[in-house]
Amino acid sequence: MTGYTTVAAMVKAMVEALNITVPVALHLDHGSYEGAKAALDAGFSSIMFDGSHYGIEENIEKTKEIVELCHSKGVSVEAEVGSIGGEEDGVIGKECRSIADLGVDFLAAGIGNIHGKYPANWEGLDFDALDAIQAETGKLPLVLHGGSGIPDEMIKKAITLGVSKVNVNTECQLYFQEATRKYIEAGKDLEGKGYDPRKLLAPGAEAIKQCVKDRMEVFGCIGKA
Ligand code: 13P
Repeated sequence: MTGYTTVAAMVKAMVEALNITVPVALHLDHGSYEGAKAALDAGFSSIMFDGSHYGIEENIEKTKEIVELCHSKGVSVEAEVGSIGGEEDGVIGKECRSIADLGVDFLAAGIGNIHGKYPANWEGLDFDALDAIQAETGKLPLVLHGGSGIPDEMIKKAITLGVSKVNVNTECQLYFQEATRKYIEAGKDLEGKGYDPRKLLAPGAEAIKQCVKDRMEVFGCIGKA
């Protein structure tokens, strides 16, 4: 939208202005090869380079380069193997091992997880695949993408099997949608200056906070920053 440098400057200023004392990571999600480099230059503190759409050799080559660049600046790297979305979610332990050996800090791999809403006939997470990936990658923190709508017990089990980061986006969006819909359906945008974006968008923003708090409770990460 406004570019990596704008976002980095805003986040840095917010951390200072709001006197935030917990560590804040500014993370690029699903960065391209060029995007990862641009975000690094802009001051992001954590980069996901998603090379999963390349063949494994090219993914390894590009991930290696991004790891070297990022680590020279003390920036962490998340890499991805295979594809998240169910098309290729078989056991890819060996490929995970090759990427893990490059020294990445986090690894995302497809274990039946899907971005967006899960279909009614979704078969759940593939814990055997997760087990196999963990066996190949040791203590490397694993990332579960598509965290919206996975039953809490499944997420908790995945956490016991090495998942250290759960990405949740759609669920936040749905909370936002519901709160905003309620506001408009109650006719509040028609009262006084209820059309002001600061008012109109406030219930949705508050709802996203609630969603994040709820997820943090379930994931067991409160107070662990
Ligand atoms: P959802 O939108 O399905 O929660 O996925 C988020 C995600 O994995 C972003 O990388």
